[in-house]
Amino acid sequence: MVIRVNVEFLAKDAVKAVDRGDLIVIIDALRCSSTIVTALANGAKAIIPVRTLDEARRFHAENPNYILAGERGGLKPRGFELGNSPLEYTPEKVSGKIIILTTTSGTSALTYSRGAKWIFVGSFLNAKAVAEKSISIANAEDIGISIVQAGTKGRFSLEDFLCTGAIVNELSKSESEVELSDAAQASLLAFKDAEDDLLANIMKSNHSKKLIELGFTKDIEFSCRKNLFSIVPIYRKGIITKIE
Ligand code: MLT
Repeated sequence: MVIRVNVEFLAKDAVKAVDRGDLIVIIDALRCSSTIVTALANGAKAIIPVRTLDEARRFHAENPNYILAGERGGLKPRGFELGNSPLEYTPEKVSGKIIILTTTSGTSALTYSRGAKWIFVGSFLNAKAVAEKSISIANAEDIGISIVQAGTKGRFSLEDFLCTGAIVNELSKSESEVELSDAAQASLLAFKDAEDDLLANIMKSNHSKKLIELGFTKDIEFSCRKNLFSIVPIYRKGIITKIE
């Protein structure tokens, strides 16, 4: 069996992956997917992604024990307990907790994917784990894999493209036969070219520049660490948990 690997460059195009019946891997390397992976790796019970600030605040008012978290313009919104910095999501703060998360692009990519049976969250931090789990499910269910990049405010983003390449690289190592779309092949070529100096290359992206300006350089450094965690977040019935 050959597993087809597709790539979508924008959050809203997750619906195309849903229509294909593919397993979806959502990527927002800076920083939403890195934050989700880190929170779950550090013991968070679940993450509930929501699209708007209002929705997040309303939901929190109904569930005051949950942590209200996220960003707008990269910064923690008024009244929120945590921002969107993966480094804030320490075991002390998140272990055993349920987190309501709203970010500019990442959480909306997740909500656009809702119709799919399998939705995973990928980042550099868990590239190998998410690739291995995706291959095993795609094989078992005879479906393709779509990597959906959240992008930045509706535009293509370099860091998500390189992260796609990192995951495609892991998919290509599998014993299963994979057939890469042109976009998947391009991401792999870009990743291989950038890999030896990944951080410096990611630092060239527009979103990195914005995060550096805001004082979040350490988030970029952390988010570029490959395969630090072996967990795979799964988004199902509106909630993200660790797949067992
Ligand atoms: C987003 O979802 O747009 C990003 O995670 C923004 C950020 O870096 O905070």
